Amino acid sequence: MRRTPETVRDNPLAALTAAPAAADFAATAERFSLYACPSCKGDLALLEDGLRCQVCQITYPLLDGIPDFMPADIHRDPNQIVRNVARVDRLARVYESRWWYPLVLSVYAGWRKTLLPEMVRVVGEMIHTDGRLILDAACGPGTLGRRILAPDQALYGADISWGMLRAGQDYARRDGLSGIHFARAKVEMLPFRPLSFDAAICGGALHLFPDTVAALQEIGRTMKPGAPLAVTTFVSGRSGILRFRRIREYMRATQGLHVFALAELEDCLMQAGFVGFAPRLYGSWVVFRAIRCGASTRGA
Ligand SMILES: C[S@@+](CC[C@H](N)C(=O)[O-])C[C@H]1O[C@@H](n2cnc3c(N)ncnc32)[C@H](O)[C@@H]1O
Ligand SMILES: [Zn+2]
Repeated sequence: MRRTPETVRDNPLAALTAAPAAADFAATAERFSLYACPSCKGDLALLEDGLRCQVCQITYPLLDGIPDFMPADIHRDPNQIVRNVARVDRLARVYESRWWYPLVLSVYAGWRKTLLPEMVRVVGEMIHTDGRLILDAACGPGTLGRRILAPDQALYGADISWGMLRAGQDYARRDGLSGIHFARAKVEMLPFRPLSFDAAICGGALHLFPDTVAALQEIGRTMKPGAPLAVTTFVSGRSGILRFRRIREYMRATQGLHVFALAELEDCLMQAGFVGFAPRLYGSWVVFRAIRCGASTRGA
């Protein structure tokens, strides 16, 4: 959909638009240089009020420094999670409360099987890299990414939910984390140049994407060959609530949530151009690592 200055003005969040000050323009331009048009993947020009694709004739607005790559009318999106993103926005209020993550991990991994600090440690080890640029796909408020990032690294988070992104931006500012950059975008249409990232994570979201292989392919497109990917998602494990078939079916029917088998995950990764699948199971919750195929990994 074509974005015009009028559609930006019509959006109440446009009031929050922060035009970069002239002195900061070079730094801002460098920060935004990684972004590409999510439709044609072409270059974007940095304007005062947004990023413009000359090919598609679209200006993606900047709202409080966060570029918005989502189409204006998400209510017609085929993906029910995108259509109902207001629910995710509401979840953002409690997402990093003391009880939310422990509750989720108890329900899916099993009572006291693991906690967020262990997830952060394991995911951090899986994507350990000397490289500088990390992608956080479906980042939420950057729950994993913010905790993993080294001081000399930069994290680019993409998520469909304003509520999550704004919460993440507030936490990053509160904690003085200047290397965290959020964008509103679908994982299936990432607004990044190809071969950009040295590592990628995707926490608690793979089971939400309607087409797993397409989403992984799009993540892989933005990664350098040989770059590690770490994912947390749901599997039909031996403990945790998803060991019950009826619950898996119910979650699928009501929330479009897909519960993977391990072999299925490996197959999806292979089809999407990843190798070296290494899962670590916590009941119905899995953390896995895979490597983006490239010259040095072919046949690995
Ligand atoms: C359970 S939260 C996970 C947040 C964080 N990554 C974590 O590890 O805690 C799932 C996130 O996926 C996002 N999401 C769902 N479908 C998406 C899609 N197609 N593209 C981008 N984000 C999506 C939601 O908005 C939500 O913030
Ligand atoms: Zn374009």
